[in-house]
Amino acid sequence: MNSYDILQKKFWHRDKSNRRDVTHPVVVCLYKRQAEKLKNLIPTKVTSILDCGCGNGFFQTFLSEAFQINCMGVDFSSKMLRVNPNAGKVAADIAAMPFENKYFDLVTCSMLFHHLSFDKQSAALKEMRRVARKYIFITEPNGNNLANVIFALFHPEERRLLDFDLRYLRQIFKENNLTILNAYVDSLLLPNATPRFMLPILRKLDKTALASLFGFNCNVLCCVQSKQ
Ligand SMILES: C[S@@+](CC[C@H](N)C(=O)[O-])C[C@H]1O[C@@H](n2cnc3c(N)ncnc32)[C@H](O)[C@@H]1O
Repeated sequence: MNSYDILQKKFWHRDKSNRRDVTHPVVVCLYKRQAEKLKNLIPTKVTSILDCGCGNGFFQTFLSEAFQINCMGVDFSSKMLRVNPNAGKVAADIAAMPFENKYFDLVTCSMLFHHLSFDKQSAALKEMRRVARKYIFITEPNGNNLANVIFALFHPEERRLLDFDLRYLRQIFKENNLTILNAYVDSLLLPNATPRFMLPILRKLDKTALASLFGFNCNVLCCVQSKQ
């Protein structure tokens, strides 16, 4: 295990009960919209979902709601899983998940890849691909966003977000022979940092080109079938 992986393990295994919970208005606004947008982008029916790095359940909760399915979550931190209100959750590392091949129609991962060393990112994507039958979706911080850059400079555990942008995400999908269906930047909301009073104005700005150009997160949806 390299030093970045050791740092992550220490960071995520600390007590996380002071984080926002899934009912916070900023969290609801961001993740509800994100899950609904994903549902609209997916061309065929999805009947099972796994959310990798589900943590305290932000994305998992709203995936379950949008797709009307009990989404399963996996995370290596028992501290994060303890504050996750969803019933389906398993403690495991994303690079070694206890599921059969092609077990889930859709496998998602929100805000986890930048917490992995380069080698581990590759192992994680391979493992997501192994358990996915149809689609993989990843959302990560946009390293081209100035606020994200400043945040990364002050938080060592976030440092690798500086690598991430749409180009980087596209590249790791292509290296794994995954067919990209959609790639986009969106939202000026930060789930754990945007103050509640800014929600009305940012909600309006999120509907403008400002969010798709300078948003905080970059997203890629792909199909797991290999290119011929
Ligand atoms: C920034 S949080 C994101 C939580 C949630 N997905 C969200 O969007 O709010 C990152 C999560 O990834 C988990 N994580 C980090 N490294 C992991 C690994 N190697 N395997 C499984 N989970 C991991 C952490 O425990 C944490 O819950």
